[in-house]
Amino acid sequence: RRAVVAPTSILEVETTDETRFTTGIGELNRVLGGGIVSGSLVLVGGDPGIGKSTILLQMCRNMSEMGQKILYVSGEESLSQIKMRAERIGNFTKDMLLLCVNNLEDVEEYVKKDTPKVIVIDSIQTIVTDDVESAPGSVSQVKEVTARLMRMAKTGIAIFIVGHVTKEGTVAGPRTLEHMVDTVLYFEGERNAGFRVLRAVKNRFGSTNEIGVFEMKGTGLAEVKNPSQLMLDGRPDDTSGSVVVCTMEGTRPILLEIQALVCQSSFNLPRRTSVGLDYNRVNLLLAVLEKRGGIVMAGCDAYVNIAGGMRLDDPSADLGIVFALVSSFKNRAIPSDMVMFGEMGLSGEVRGVSGAEQRVREAAKMGFKTCIIPRSNLDNVKKMKDLGDMKVVGVANIQQALEYI
Ligand code: TYD
Ligand code: MG
Repeated sequence: RRAVVAPTSILEVETTDETRFTTGIGELNRVLGGGIVSGSLVLVGGDPGIGKSTILLQMCRNMSEMGQKILYVSGEESLSQIKMRAERIGNFTKDMLLLCVNNLEDVEEYVKKDTPKVIVIDSIQTIVTDDVESAPGSVSQVKEVTARLMRMAKTGIAIFIVGHVTKEGTVAGPRTLEHMVDTVLYFEGERNAGFRVLRAVKNRFGSTNEIGVFEMKGTGLAEVKNPSQLMLDGRPDDTSGSVVVCTMEGTRPILLEIQALVCQSSFNLPRRTSVGLDYNRVNLLLAVLEKRGGIVMAGCDAYVNIAGGMRLDDPSADLGIVFALVSSFKNRAIPSDMVMFGEMGLSGEVRGVSGAEQRVREAAKMGFKTCIIPRSNLDNVKKMKDLGDMKVVGVANIQQALEYI
């Protein structure tokens, strides 16, 4: 017979503060919620070649330098391949241990004898357990291996699992594992754009939607401390259809350029595409422009994208999308020192957004001179003292906003 388990009153539960330690990479610490939590299981997903192995190796380098024992398990690369990559990144210490195996049992065997502070499993698709019959990378393999790693983590080891995002098919991608782990980070970015964004999509130990920004260099991934500058690099002067918006990524304001191209359509059904933005949002804003703003683009093709390859789902970019569309449609450039943010409602009202002060401050810091913001955010922003000569104007609806084009 099983022993009976009694419930505990919540008032009697004792908590211990989780212990965190640094990765030596500020942007990575931020995305993790302030460093690594001992005993946590972290999944790092992303397309092949995006930089997952590189960032984890950099983290291992930093931590081994701080005197912590690290075990890097690779099922993909040989010892000498890892060493070659490591040499591009920097000097390592003897506390960085490599294990090139494909069996989970080998890792478990090692952990019985010694306890590293951190284990990296690169990648989950190449590690199997003898207890499951199916092929490496199959759903049942990755699930069983992950469950066993979770048990291993709870003994106090922080474990990072690399998971390649795969085309739908027989091989299990990281999505299958999201619910099993403590933290899920995704690495994204256009492969040919230089920068990479690391995004937390789940975090039991911190807030989600924080991002870290990196640039791939010849010596590994470098942190980008000023993403706004990177995103606005190469922005054209006095060109219609180009607008700068200020979005929030987690707790951090970032300036981005939105570009629109609107031209007469030669099709019965005009073309509408968007890159980096929700396509349906753009269509909705075109409808609001027509119905509430009196600007009809029904016979026009419209293309909207975010320069630099960022992805954006912050509705505060609405005002900027509207400006970019109208600017291109009327062939009238928006002043290059103007920036804006605000969400657009279906009645054509410009709705307030959170973090208005931080956004305006970021714009001022980057040298912008005029900022168009929702009317309802204006009172708080007007109280700010550190804006220099920046002019802030509030707009309540689309008609008022359009006067600035
Ligand atoms: P990698 O970390 O191997 O990607 P993943 O593990 O996500 O598959 O990164 C691979 C790419 O990064 C590869 O094309 C080479 C490039 N790279 C650099 O440009 N500079 C560097 O210092 C390193 C280590 C890699
Ligand atoms: Mg790799």
